[in-house]
Amino acid sequence: MSEEYVLGNDQEELSRLKLQHDLWRDELLKLWDQSSLRDAKKILDLGCGPGYTSLDLLKYNRQQAQMTSIDISDNFINYLNYQLKEEKLDSRGQAKKSFIENLNLEDTDFDAAFCRWLMIFVQNPEKAFQQVYRHLTSGSEFILQEYVSYDSMDLVPDYPSMKPVVDAIFKSWKAQGGDPNRGKHLPSLLEKVGFKVTHLQPVAKFAQPQDPFWQWPDSFYRSFLPRLQKSGYLNEQQVQDFFADWQAAEKSPGSFFVAPTVINIIAKKL
Ligand SMILES: C[S@@+](CC[C@H](N)C(=O)[O-])C[C@H]1O[C@@H](n2cnc3c(N)ncnc32)[C@H](O)[C@@H]1O
Repeated sequence: MSEEYVLGNDQEELSRLKLQHDLWRDELLKLWDQSSLRDAKKILDLGCGPGYTSLDLLKYNRQQAQMTSIDISDNFINYLNYQLKEEKLDSRGQAKKSFIENLNLEDTDFDAAFCRWLMIFVQNPEKAFQQVYRHLTSGSEFILQEYVSYDSMDLVPDYPSMKPVVDAIFKSWKAQGGDPNRGKHLPSLLEKVGFKVTHLQPVAKFAQPQDPFWQWPDSFYRSFLPRLQKSGYLNEQQVQDFFADWQAAEKSPGSFFVAPTVINIIAKKL
């Protein structure tokens, strides 16, 4: 399994993930409010990245919960462990390097697990879920926020350069074993490994160019499209056409961005 996650783990991706976290935080809190996370005592944050969710979750929880966060990126793990110390949360939280598929912690008595935008990149989601299941006690919840129909992403009313971009994203993530539409398969996989799915909800979002949320797709395209070009999934003309359309949309009243639909899932280990 490659440790190089398709979007990278450099400073640019770290900053993009922070912006993304801030812009999606409301949706995260709405999901957490529906779950047992506020009163959990021992939490897993899976595919934590630089740990923006881990740090928020430690503050959100009212039981002084212990947390273990895992990711495959040394950079992100080191960053989170540093932040935990800085914020004097290191007695409650620690970050460790592991693939979710190979999760093998000493403790198997966690009472909640959480992941956001991880399963879309995982090569073997069934194995991953089996490992999570094994680390949880009965009655625990596994809370997920992932994409369900990534191909709903669009720039409207009519910007034809978006389709090749969406196709290229699918090809590049799938080439590394991921699936932008993975959310469609997660509820049945969770049931297959023994969880009971108790909550399913879609999250749909639009953005007009003047909205703060516009920065989310804008920062993603600026960082990821050059990579897609470099790796041959898009050619120079397709990238130029896309940014020409993107700029045209910014100046055209009534144009808007349709975000890829997200799925909220809560599953219980009975
Ligand atoms: C889009 S980021 C999301 C980070 C964080 N969950 C958040 O919502 O801000 C995806 C993260 O998953 C990690 N990742 C990818 N494949 C993984 C795997 N098989 N096991 C554990 N982490 C993985 C990447 O290194 C990256 O940090």
